[in-house]
Amino acid sequence: MKSGVLEELKKSMGKHLSGEELSKKFGVSRTAIWKHIKKLKEEGYIIESSTNKGYVLIESPDALYPDEIKELLDTSFVGKEIIYMDSIDSTNSQAKRLGEGDFIDGTVIIAEEQTTGRGRLGRDWVSPKGKGIWMTILLKPEIKAEQASQITLIAAISVVKGIKKTCGVDTMIKWPNDLVLNGQKLCGILTELGAEIDRINYLCVGIGINANLDKEDLGNHELKTATSLKLAAGVAVDRKKLIAEVLKAFEDYYSEFLINSNIDFMIEEYKKSSANIGKEVRLITKDGEIRAKTEDVNSRGHLLVRLKDGSLREISSGEVSVRGIYDYI
Ligand code: BTN
Repeated sequence: MKSGVLEELKKSMGKHLSGEELSKKFGVSRTAIWKHIKKLKEEGYIIESSTNKGYVLIESPDALYPDEIKELLDTSFVGKEIIYMDSIDSTNSQAKRLGEGDFIDGTVIIAEEQTTGRGRLGRDWVSPKGKGIWMTILLKPEIKAEQASQITLIAAISVVKGIKKTCGVDTMIKWPNDLVLNGQKLCGILTELGAEIDRINYLCVGIGINANLDKEDLGNHELKTATSLKLAAGVAVDRKKLIAEVLKAFEDYYSEFLINSNIDFMIEEYKKSSANIGKEVRLITKDGEIRAKTEDVNSRGHLLVRLKDGSLREISSGEVSVRGIYDYI
């Protein structure tokens, strides 16, 4: 009912709605309406109330409330169920907990803040409150475990598309799953799964986008290698719109992937956005660094690199970190 009241206020487009009109519409007392308005104000909606004219919505908060995102979302299953939290340890950890039970395919978990956000290879992920997009898409795909890394590539290209549509900014993908802007990291993707020998029970696609982070939010050690859309473009981005566009793009690519059982249909598009194909790189493995030149990404989502001895090596995303010779890319 609270969301119904909000919907009516939004529909009235800046014109007052009286408590009486609202109470008739919902068949409840004016006091009940007033209580919902009070709750909405507590959530950050700016609603002007006047005894004679009633209520008018002045401004919605910059919070990632599910109803606000759903208004902008044009998908059939991704994000139909959104779980929103003000603060959580990690949306991926929460998704894994949910994945162990019954859940709706395409559920999205979003948090304003992560207290222990996680990155690949055991790294931390800085996730300050209300500034970024920290979300996980929880899926039940009927695919083999070795195909899961291809979904990371799907997520990366979806974020490129979502950012382009929302902000008009071209970002590049540093294989496998980092988005970069001006040579600095803007987004990371962490795909995790719960599986038995012969089947995947759930797949968590965690997406972290540095949307409106300021310099001081990116810890000192991150400053050289990380950026945000706000820092790069100079203006804050609409996080809700960006989420809706990313989820829409993700659903489109993912559905195509399920039909084809491969990513051939999007690999050329992925490569066009690649920041590190054809570059001299350092492969950082647990046994040390190897110099190589990246040549291609194949339809399994693996990186093909030419080693100094002329041999070609195929690497999967879990194995190594790829860095430029001197810089991050
Ligand atoms: C990386 O670049 O190493 C991957 C970073 C992934 C960060 C996102 S934020 C949402 C989700 N929850 C997490 O704890 N991590 C992912």
